Amino acid sequence: MSQYTLPDMPYDYAALEPAITGEILELHHSKHHAAYVKGANDTLDRLAEVRDKGDFSGLVGLEKTYAFNLSGHVLHTIFWQNLSPDGGDRPDGELGDSIVEHFGSFEAFQKQLTTATATVQGSGWGVLAWEPLGRRLIVEQVYDHHGNVGMSSTPLLVFDAWEHAYYLQYKNVRPDYVEKLWSLINWNDVIARFDAARA
Ligand SMILES: [Fe+2]
Repeated sequence: MSQYTLPDMPYDYAALEPAITGEILELHHSKHHAAYVKGANDTLDRLAEVRDKGDFSGLVGLEKTYAFNLSGHVLHTIFWQNLSPDGGDRPDGELGDSIVEHFGSFEAFQKQLTTATATVQGSGWGVLAWEPLGRRLIVEQVYDHHGNVGMSSTPLLVFDAWEHAYYLQYKNVRPDYVEKLWSLINWNDVIARFDAARA
């Protein structure tokens, strides 16, 4: 029984053009995201087999594989919803105030998240997250889908820095792709996540 399913996109594959081409978005969702969903489901099946057989010798690899694929599924699901053809600008209200409180200014936050995304070594993500212990917003630079992450944090806004997210269009110039992402942000979605995380 599959535990995870690939969500439908909230918009057409071509809806984010010209910032992100329909070809990239279709491959990204229907191939890459789909592979993480399948990987997470397959690994749960393998873990069930391990328990049935009572042979846990391969557990280390399975735990890593599960964390990788589950995190990939979660981050991509958020990523699609964080973006919108009608996105851009900047948030006001409590999220806007909280960004200023915890980063000094919107510009400083924007610079930190842009740099975190653009400078990931290899594959990863730049993430704005809510950290409930300190009750504050933080930026995290995530490796693969799950490395370099504080255990408590809840992702609110995620920028995919894997080459599959931009290479067909932006080649090796990741900073240009990151710059375009800012024009696509669905702040209403980010605000809803911010409110839910704090509640
Ligand atoms: Fe991706």
